[in-house]
Amino acid sequence: MTKETKKQGFATRQIHGYDVRVPGINPLATPIFQTSTFVFDDCAQGAARFAGKEDGFIYSRIGNPNVEQVAKKVAILEGAEAGLALSSGMGAVSTVLLSLLEQGDHIVADLALYGATFTLMQDALPRYGINTTFVDATDLDMVIDAIKPETRMVYFETPTNPNLKVVDIAELVKRVREKDPLILVVIDNTFATPYLQQPLSLGVDVVVHSGTKYLNGHGDVISGFIASNKTIIDRCRDIGLKMVTGSVLGAFEAFLINRGLKTLDIRMEKHCKNAMKIAEWLETQPKVRKVYYPGLKSFEGYEVAKKQMKLPGAIISFELEASKEAAEQFVNSLELITLAVSLGDAETLIEHPASMTHAGYSKEMLEEAGISETLIRISVGLEDADDIIADLEKHLAAV
Ligand SMILES: Cc1ncc(COP(=O)(O)O)c(C=O)c1O
Repeated sequence: MTKETKKQGFATRQIHGYDVRVPGINPLATPIFQTSTFVFDDCAQGAARFAGKEDGFIYSRIGNPNVEQVAKKVAILEGAEAGLALSSGMGAVSTVLLSLLEQGDHIVADLALYGATFTLMQDALPRYGINTTFVDATDLDMVIDAIKPETRMVYFETPTNPNLKVVDIAELVKRVREKDPLILVVIDNTFATPYLQQPLSLGVDVVVHSGTKYLNGHGDVISGFIASNKTIIDRCRDIGLKMVTGSVLGAFEAFLINRGLKTLDIRMEKHCKNAMKIAEWLETQPKVRKVYYPGLKSFEGYEVAKKQMKLPGAIISFELEASKEAAEQFVNSLELITLAVSLGDAETLIEHPASMTHAGYSKEMLEEAGISETLIRISVGLEDADDIIADLEKHLAAV
């Protein structure tokens, strides 16, 4: 049924990482296994599968060929022993937290997180006795000082959403291990993708993704992934996914993600090339106060990004020399660039984090996290960079 290609290059693995073959029919593209359940030959077989004594599918909440294919592919691309696919990025984040933590446990997390992840840690988890201390994860002393005897997890994103702070992954892992080797280090690798950044090779324990973004890449699927060792993935599947979150990815969504994954490397190359050109242009504009992009030499995270990322990614944030109202008017007036949250699609998208993706942050927390009221975030798409710049230029003139 399957053929694994763990040792081949990234491009080969993103296409062939886990081929599903159907003997007797042999379609090139994996068919969509749109079924809730799987037929057993007899009771003995059903019992053997439930007991884990025989491989094979049982029921699509527990496993489905399309879903398994993309989970294994993402794991292979991340260099992980095992992977799990879920119905959303938040499904992946919550499955990791609810499978690996228990009442009384403590998390140290970066201040700048995807808004719903922040709200989950800040507002929801304390109801179950799991508390979080938020710190600036680029300040490693702050991370270490926040660790308590009950700390079980250090959680962060890099580059961060939406202000593109770059955390030194290897250094953070080293410092956390020195303090307490039992603490799990978890990273959200959505902004970078495994093509640009390989956190597990830098010592991280668990990678989570919103597969909705670059992994699928076409703006038509919501999905999430976890990549880690087999023990952690088994726990996330058998406890978190199966019984707590039930955050199951559909077969059709998995089929689309598999299709998107086949071009991940070439899409990321073009996204990043476009982003570099646009960030450099934005930096020369007198009406732009500050550009946040890890590819700019002037940006704080430049050196660390160069060390740990193949390319600096394709999310740019910037602040205008203008009032919040004028910045809003600028965003509303754009023609090619589309006003929408999400990122990683072929289309260039623009949004206002303080009132949209990060609306769950209080005014004080936004300030503490360094997310200003006038910050604008662009997810640079795959159009011609000059056309994106022309749209920005035309409407910047009117600010
Ligand atoms: C960095 C990051 N992590 C997680 C998520 C949540 O993903 P999803 O929307 O697929 O649940 C997002 C969504 O924007 C994100 O940007």
